[in-house]
Amino acid sequence: MITKKQAHVLDFIKSYRSKNDYAPSLEEIKKKFKLASVSTSHYYISKLQDAGFLNKEHNQPRAVSTVEAKQMIEIPILGAIAAGQPIEAMEVSNDTITIAKDEIGKQGKHYALRVQGSSMIDEGIFDGDIVVIRKQEVAENGQTVVAVIDDNEATLKKLYRENGGFRLQPANPTLFPIFRNEVEVRGVVVKIIRNLESQLDQGQSRDEKYVRKIDYSWDYRGEKTKSHTHGIHTYPAMFIPQVGRRLLETYSKEGDTICDIFCGSGSALVESRLIGRNAYGIDLNPLAIFLAKAKTTPLNPQKLTKEYIALLDRVGRIKDSEIQRPNFKNIDFWFKDNVIVKLAKLKKAIREIKDKEIQNFLLVAFSETVRYSSNTKTGEFKLVRTKGEKLEKHDPDVINIFRKHAEKNIAGMTDFYKDAKKDLWTKIIYGDSSKDCGIKENSIDCIITSPPYGDSRTTVAYGQFSRLSAQWIDVFDDPNDASGVDNNLLGGRATKSLTHILPSNYLKESLDKISKQNETRARDVLSFNIGLNECLKQAYRILKPKKYFCLVVGNRLVKQVRIPTDFIIAELAEKIGFTCENIIVRNIPGKRMPIKNSPTNIVGALEETMNKESIVVLRKN
Ligand SMILES: C[S@@+](CC[C@H](N)C(=O)[O-])C[C@H]1O[C@@H](n2cnc3c(N)ncnc32)[C@H](O)[C@@H]1O
Repeated sequence: MITKKQAHVLDFIKSYRSKNDYAPSLEEIKKKFKLASVSTSHYYISKLQDAGFLNKEHNQPRAVSTVEAKQMIEIPILGAIAAGQPIEAMEVSNDTITIAKDEIGKQGKHYALRVQGSSMIDEGIFDGDIVVIRKQEVAENGQTVVAVIDDNEATLKKLYRENGGFRLQPANPTLFPIFRNEVEVRGVVVKIIRNLESQLDQGQSRDEKYVRKIDYSWDYRGEKTKSHTHGIHTYPAMFIPQVGRRLLETYSKEGDTICDIFCGSGSALVESRLIGRNAYGIDLNPLAIFLAKAKTTPLNPQKLTKEYIALLDRVGRIKDSEIQRPNFKNIDFWFKDNVIVKLAKLKKAIREIKDKEIQNFLLVAFSETVRYSSNTKTGEFKLVRTKGEKLEKHDPDVINIFRKHAEKNIAGMTDFYKDAKKDLWTKIIYGDSSKDCGIKENSIDCIITSPPYGDSRTTVAYGQFSRLSAQWIDVFDDPNDASGVDNNLLGGRATKSLTHILPSNYLKESLDKISKQNETRARDVLSFNIGLNECLKQAYRILKPKKYFCLVVGNRLVKQVRIPTDFIIAELAEKIGFTCENIIVRNIPGKRMPIKNSPTNIVGALEETMNKESIVVLRKN
């Protein structure tokens, strides 16, 4: 289905094409409809592509071409439905919505309702959305239904039959279910249509210098994020590939050279390779560099499989007397003795592979095996040892863990090898992005990145997460150096005082509020921003004029003070020579990062860390 506004955009593209023989650019669409940004134009194009009105094969805006119209059906919008407290059942309105027939199935009669309330948010149904309902009087357990209860009150809930009655279950953990002996079902939800247009133009209070635009089309809730080599190793706060790809497609073109200045495990670099961009990646965590290289180096899957099978054969024949135990501090605290022996055999067998790239690729699965067979809680990014009975019972099947990861990774590489564009390069630099890392001035066509959210001690400890793996796979000459990584990352060392000359009022306000409660925390925040400002300067140096720099950032809470990192970046960057063109807010449905932490140290007083992030779009003047 397409909304009225999308239909207008489609009409515009069609008439433009018939006059010019090519499609309008995103900029022209933006101008025509007075949209806030080109990414909003991109959103409309994607929606029209998803609905089948525009061809998908070309993602460059001038290349879009219309396709034959699908068979459409007009559905009446009968009124509002409560996804919250029940409301009077259905009034009648004259609105209709047009939808492609194959989106809702061929059978049955349909009607649509506008949703009020937030009781179904975990099902992706939000206030203001439209739901298309197939009329029916019965429903299966767990289906989302229009239920009429009591005295003609309608509500949208999941239906369960229980103890001879019914449970109407909200999809929102803060709300209670409704129990009734009788429920009248008036239909089941077959399609949800997002009310994005109104949200797109919703800013916040007018006296702010910058405006954030909520855009749920960037959520990618429920989409596959582990395709190709994306899933070969866990890493904290990874890019959702779809976000990386959309930024690249919107702000760069095929053949361009892009850079991710905090590349982490290399998600943006993988996407660049898949859609035809040369890429630089920079990171200061050696394990990240190792992973990013493995993820972006296409390897022949046949050769890889052959080596893998030979490796499994070899490892079983290695004797205890042949292995070399790694020698790093606290190894016995983090690994049981028999696990160390098995890991050491596996490592020896991998190291015997002559092809270095294949060896490194299999070391990625080994690195995951290290984490899963260690005594750590694998659900945590920080190193936390399991305790008591759990630790006693911990008896990991090292070889099987390795096999599971290696085979999954080989499948991912098979797809990457097939889809990665040839004749491109990806260069990964171990370096500090706040300094000159050797990339030439004015040489980059687009920078996309997600910086850390704050210092490693109180947010995500990249170094700590990586330590045991890094020690086992020898990414440091001296494995004991692995514990120093976090201190070198942004904000790793607090400033000595709170005096500074960073030109950001938003930062100043935050620091004032935080320092009233805890000066050390304020100095951490300042140190992080001083580092970030240096990174912005370096980004400015390497980017070509008029080109884009996109940062996906989180506005974290410190001592209950929300730090507007997006606005701070915009202010700092504008002083350096960028213009802030857009700030888009997206939900983080599945990013691996701590949602809660407790810096207050009060039991039960958890601070939420992040469930939304901002995409700051800067352009070099
Ligand atoms: C949010 S993560 C990036 C994750 C990445 N987008 C991915 O998909 O894996 C931020 C990264 O910044 C790196 N980092 C922190 N300070 C740095 C600095 N001064 N220079 C370069 N990299 C740094 C961290 O090591 C971490 O890998």
